[in-house]
Amino acid sequence: MRMRFPYIYQLMLGFLLVILTLMSITSFSIIHFGRNQVINEVEETFLNYASLIEETGFDENQLNSYNQIFGNQGIEYGIFDQEGELEYPQINQDFQSNLSEQDLKTLKAGESLLLRTKPNTLRKNNRDTVSIYVPIFTKDHRYQGFIGLGRPVSYIENNMDELKGNVLKAFLISTIFAVVVSLLLSFYLVYRVNRLSKATQKVATGDYDIYISHSNRDEIDRLSADFNKMIKALKEWRSEVLHLEERRKTFMQDVAHEMRTPLTTINGLLEGLEYNVFDEEQEMRSIKIMRKETTRLIRLVNENLDYENIQSNRIVLNKHHFPLNEAMTEITEQLTPIAIESNNEIVLNEDVKNIMVYADFDRFKQIIVNLIKNSLQFTTNGMITIDAAETKESSHIIISDNGIGMSAEQMENIWDRYYKADSSRKNTKYGESGLGLPIVKQLVELHDGDIDVKSELNKGTTFIIKFPRKKLKKVEE
Ligand SMILES: Nc1ncnc2c1ncn2[C@@H]1O[C@H](COP(=O)(O)OP(=O)(O)O)[C@@H](O)[C@H]1O
Ligand SMILES: [Mg+2]
Repeated sequence: MRMRFPYIYQLMLGFLLVILTLMSITSFSIIHFGRNQVINEVEETFLNYASLIEETGFDENQLNSYNQIFGNQGIEYGIFDQEGELEYPQINQDFQSNLSEQDLKTLKAGESLLLRTKPNTLRKNNRDTVSIYVPIFTKDHRYQGFIGLGRPVSYIENNMDELKGNVLKAFLISTIFAVVVSLLLSFYLVYRVNRLSKATQKVATGDYDIYISHSNRDEIDRLSADFNKMIKALKEWRSEVLHLEERRKTFMQDVAHEMRTPLTTINGLLEGLEYNVFDEEQEMRSIKIMRKETTRLIRLVNENLDYENIQSNRIVLNKHHFPLNEAMTEITEQLTPIAIESNNEIVLNEDVKNIMVYADFDRFKQIIVNLIKNSLQFTTNGMITIDAAETKESSHIIISDNGIGMSAEQMENIWDRYYKADSSRKNTKYGESGLGLPIVKQLVELHDGDIDVKSELNKGTTFIIKFPRKKLKKVEE
């Protein structure tokens, strides 16, 4: 994109305007001040000379001796009588001072006429002249006339020219210096802005591996810091999106895979029914199998929904304190029929009675039911023991069985979705979606808790769940 008025020109223009304005004001002031200074100086010299002349008592010899000195300095003077007629030096013609009536009156009143410019010298040469006029009085204060002193303007102009030259030089040098400095400063600023702009362009093309180094001096630094923050957020957001997409894909694949088996089974049985290949007993059995498979499909759908809801934080825990005993009694009651079926016994140890748990009651029951159901599933003619303990930080619930147990490799995988140890131990009575433990783990973690498993093949399995106590410091739990 072509820029019509790049930032660097704007900056330069700004700097230049400020510099030129400042320099002009300064130069003008210096020259004005210098001019006043020169005028004051000339005036003072003239006044000094005037009193020097007066001191001679207008003695002609003495006056003549001064002429040389005055002449050297380009000063000419004259002594005039009351009417303004020249008395000294004697010049042949009728010489008049050319002062106005008003001026003559001012002199008579005892006031000097201070520095003024005239287009000619006291001797009527056509040269621009500055001059003053000082009145003369006798000792008894009678007005006698006046002294006029003058000097060509060029003498003053020479001084002024020198001053102007110096000011101009200073003006040029400082302008060049200021321009160089502002140029450097502008380049630096533009460089920094460009760096941000390049980084932005990179991000626009999908490159998020960018960090703009910066200090903490000004707005551009702050912009850089914000830019870095923004990129970090963008990066996280992008990886989250990719992650979600990945999860969605595996989820769809897994669900499809999980549903294929029961659906194929049902389809096969329906085909058999369609062509009447079953006798009455087989027919009954296939209907039972189909019911079992559809139940399994429904559970699969429900558990998937549950899992997704927990995963995406869509469930809200309603946590409060309750006695562990209360929950355990309800659970054992609910599970006793299944225990009897598998010829197992559920034993609550004494400690269960003394412990309080801080959790969502229904979700807590869901966790424990899942674990005990698993134990019942993989144990026959055995015992499921529920134990409890507590520490300062948490309540522990320990569920042990003396069933078939798991190998180390199996233990590693039980938290993965759809994991079922091996088909030989398939027992479709209470589970088989492979989602039970992943859901349990998620629920425990949602409670900021912890779940651990210990197991040995053919000896049994123990699950230990820890629920943290309510943190008093937190305002809301
Ligand atoms: N108490 C246990 N004893 C032995 N194996 C167990 C026990 N609990 C879980 N498992 C193993 O972990 C696997 C996954 O269990 P789970 O996540 O509950 O799946 P499902 O939802 O199919 O019940 C089970 O197939 C089983 O092999
Ligand atoms: Mg299970």
